[in-house]
Amino acid sequence: MLKIAVLGDIHTLLDAEDVQRLNESDYHLVLICGDLPGRSHKQTVSIARILSGLRRPSLLIPGNHDATSVLQLLGEITGSQRLKRGDSGSIAKMQRRVQELQEALGPVRLGGYSIHSFRKKKGWQEQSEGADLDIICARPHSMGGPGIGFKPYIEATFGVSDDSVSAAKIRALLEASRAKQRIILAHNGPLGLGAKPADIWGCDFDASRGDFGDADLSLALESSVRPSAVIAGHMHHALKGGGQRVWHVERDGIHYVNAARVPRIFDRNGKKQRHHVRIELDSEGVAVHEILW
Ligand SMILES: [Fe+2]
Ligand SMILES: [Fe+2]
Repeated sequence: MLKIAVLGDIHTLLDAEDVQRLNESDYHLVLICGDLPGRSHKQTVSIARILSGLRRPSLLIPGNHDATSVLQLLGEITGSQRLKRGDSGSIAKMQRRVQELQEALGPVRLGGYSIHSFRKKKGWQEQSEGADLDIICARPHSMGGPGIGFKPYIEATFGVSDDSVSAAKIRALLEASRAKQRIILAHNGPLGLGAKPADIWGCDFDASRGDFGDADLSLALESSVRPSAVIAGHMHHALKGGGQRVWHVERDGIHYVNAARVPRIFDRNGKKQRHHVRIELDSEGVAVHEILW
């Protein structure tokens, strides 16, 4: 059985104790859904330095808060082309911040339109053939909702200009996989599961915006090559106006997990609790558990 720890949106809440406990655990792999900072790139880098202490094969997909600037984020929220920063200087700055993130992560891999093959006894592998598991990383820095977030950077770096090009890229990775099983790691989940605000990727901050899932990811999932699970975050569990989001759904044999319990470290009855999701995977199926340490 493969045992995988999933860290949802960290938003500054991760420390050396988390890393130590993961290093002493029975997990084979650690997957991280992105959104490391509060607001600044400095915080992203400092959380990435803490993650670099992980001694299990680990993989992060960056979120909309990672390696992006406050002005860019504002551009994405308001739709302002000026703030979205499509000039070559701003694109190069984001590429440099991504580079700094990778350097700070040390041995932790940074994913995005990428495939990562894993063998239980040997760790990360070059070859998908014969691997126990392939992790396929979808589009990095997803904002959720329609369109491609941070499009100038995504287009310049990956040649992706719209949802159909992005979907084809993710689908090609899925179909290139020769491993025994597959998991998709994304920052935001797919379109199609979020009709209501409290649904796994429904929009709670503006109910009129409906399903906030990614269209490219749901198109890619039309492939006949099926992953065992799709793991993401972004739409935080605590709902605007109160209540909690559905965070785990099984649909047509795929387990969908939204790991974004924010804050992931919190007090309950005077005791500190640390959240992550445990995934157990074997030829029989998938088991998903919420864990509080
Ligand atoms: Fe987040
Ligand atoms: Fe996010």
